[in-house]
Amino acid sequence: MLNDEGGYCRSTGCSEHYLGFRSRRRVGVMTQNSTYPMGDLTVTRMGYGSMQLTGPGVMGPPPDRDGALAVLRALPGLGVTHVDTAGFYGPHVTNELIREALHPYDDLTVVTKVGYDRDETGGWVPANTPAQLRQQVEENLKRLGVEALDVANLRLGDPMANPSQGSIAEPFAALAQMQAEGKIRHLGLSVVNAAQVAEAQTLAPVVTVQNLYNIAHRSADDALIDSLAAQGISFVPFFPLGGFSPLQSSVLSGVAERLHTRPAAVALAWLLQRSPNILLIPGTSSVAHLRENVAAADLVLDEATAKELDAIGA
Ligand SMILES: NC(=O)c1ccc[n+]([C@@H]2O[C@H](COP(=O)([O-])OP(=O)(O)OC[C@H]3O[C@@H](n4cnc5c(N)ncnc54)[C@H](OP(=O)(O)O)[C@@H]3O)[C@@H](O)[C@H]2O)c1
Repeated sequence: MLNDEGGYCRSTGCSEHYLGFRSRRRVGVMTQNSTYPMGDLTVTRMGYGSMQLTGPGVMGPPPDRDGALAVLRALPGLGVTHVDTAGFYGPHVTNELIREALHPYDDLTVVTKVGYDRDETGGWVPANTPAQLRQQVEENLKRLGVEALDVANLRLGDPMANPSQGSIAEPFAALAQMQAEGKIRHLGLSVVNAAQVAEAQTLAPVVTVQNLYNIAHRSADDALIDSLAAQGISFVPFFPLGGFSPLQSSVLSGVAERLHTRPAAVALAWLLQRSPNILLIPGTSSVAHLRENVAAADLVLDEATAKELDAIGA
């Protein structure tokens, strides 16, 4: 049902939802059909990224541990079934919080990442030899308290999220071997280019790709997203809200004002509409922001508004 200001709801009870946006008190529960496959798993298109639940610089425990656990414990009630993590967040901090809050996970899919380590100063250090990857997979299994990882993404590229060039066969084959051993259900890739995705697919199925992408930063991935969509493979943009540099745009703010919602909700809704294979993992340390983000899954932008927003990253 379309409202008169360019936004409408996917689910029934639209006016109630819309008034919720207006009053900023809406509690979002996602509609039943807002899901997408990851291999033989099915996840909600609106997920959650846990990187914000660490200390400064993604090192150490969060300043508000109880608050971090509250965010994680709110996920099932909000209908979110996709959580993103990594052993190198903290390190081990988000995995341990996720286990404490959500184990044994029930309908939740926990997607982790391997391929990086942290040094004693918090620096991000590539760690993708077969031996290093095996050690990280074992560590993730132990900290998450599972016998097999749902999805393990091989995180490549540099720490600033620029893909490297060249073959990724050796590290991906190492993960494929651990998949064959039953330690990993599904494999994904992070910070890769299209050629690297194609190379990995000759070794084992790739169920998801996670690269930096948002309304203002689209780089070369538009073609990759479309190609993955044609294959039924999810694309998970990290930094959907700009990450460490929050999105700022007068167009975004103007649309948000017109729709009586927040810029973050519009940025997330734009991504969901960009392509059906885009799944979101916005990060937050706040239950209030989590609720706003989940509610954004119900915000649909009309064609003119979407076009206006397209201009931000053109
Ligand atoms: N594969 C990779 O290399 C890679 C790299 C980076 C991140 N990731 C994953 O991607 C996830 C998302 O990225 P991210 O967390 O870095 O960045 P993000 O989701 O783009 O933005 C997070 C920032 O937005 C704020 N925020 C969240 N919801 C908001 C709302 N409704 N209104 C206003 N501000 C809001 C958060 O602050 P508050 O805490 O105050 O809400 C936080 O400062 C991460 O959590 C992580 O799981 C993957």
